[in-house]
Amino acid sequence: MIGASLPAVRLRRGTSGRNGHVSERVEVGFDRASPGIDYFDGIVIGAGAIGERALDPATARSAEAIIERLEPDDHATYSRDFAAEGRRLCGESWRYADIVTVLHAAADLLKPSSYLEIGVRRGRSMAVVASRAPRCSIIGVDLWQPGYADMENPGPEFVRGELDKGGFEGDLELLSGNSHRVLPRLFRDQPELSFDVITVDGDHSRRGARRDLTDLLPRLRIGGVLVFDDTRHPVHPELHEVWERAVVRERRYASWEFDEIGYGVALAVRRW
Ligand SMILES: C[S@@+](CC[C@H](N)C(=O)[O-])C[C@H]1O[C@@H](n2cnc3c(N)ncnc32)[C@H](O)[C@@H]1O
Repeated sequence: MIGASLPAVRLRRGTSGRNGHVSERVEVGFDRASPGIDYFDGIVIGAGAIGERALDPATARSAEAIIERLEPDDHATYSRDFAAEGRRLCGESWRYADIVTVLHAAADLLKPSSYLEIGVRRGRSMAVVASRAPRCSIIGVDLWQPGYADMENPGPEFVRGELDKGGFEGDLELLSGNSHRVLPRLFRDQPELSFDVITVDGDHSRRGARRDLTDLLPRLRIGGVLVFDDTRHPVHPELHEVWERAVVRERRYASWEFDEIGYGVALAVRRW
């Protein structure tokens, strides 16, 4: 019964930082009965476990219920109907993951205390994290480009209202501007800033997405999760290559991707 009476979550902080990466760790770690050598470096939740949880039909249903409470838009309606059709055809064996099921899984498993999102739009993906980790500190960055994807992009006050619907109680900072200018300023002002979960879903150009990853990967805590959306988007085929080069080929990260149907989504856990 090793660990039966131990808390599942414990504080794990501070190892040496390397190559400009922050040294903070996520708080979810292997907690054992007796002290000794930490053979596996304490990271117990891998990319595959988060991916599996994202594909779990119960996760999809829970994420849908969160989104159902938000202001309806064409994209949300389409996603709901798409899932309904998948279940009609395949029943419980239908498997699908997207940014919201991946974030739902990451929030449930990591219980993040800090989340950064580039590309907030109407707050759909952010609302999932806010609802599953209601005390988390959240920073969002968006240009609030008018008419993004042919839909209204109403801005920070709208997003704040959407998060309130899920009972969010944490700190929320919504920064308006181009991520390529906002992020360097943010990290210059707060050099120690790091995050348990990060989403990159803003600038979809090759250069812009690569830049966001370059700026943010060093800010991901050890054991933390980075989510990258649209890896198989037909209009942005370069995003997959950007992900491959920046993350998949790097030993520092363990990655997972869902690319069977939809626009694709990828995640990575930082190993060290
Ligand atoms: C795909 S949407 C985000 C969707 C959101 N993550 C969700 O799942 O509901 C992309 C958003 O990124 C913003 N964006 C595009 N380029 C940006 C940049 N360089 N800096 C900040 N935001 C940007 C757009 O204004 C848009 O609102």
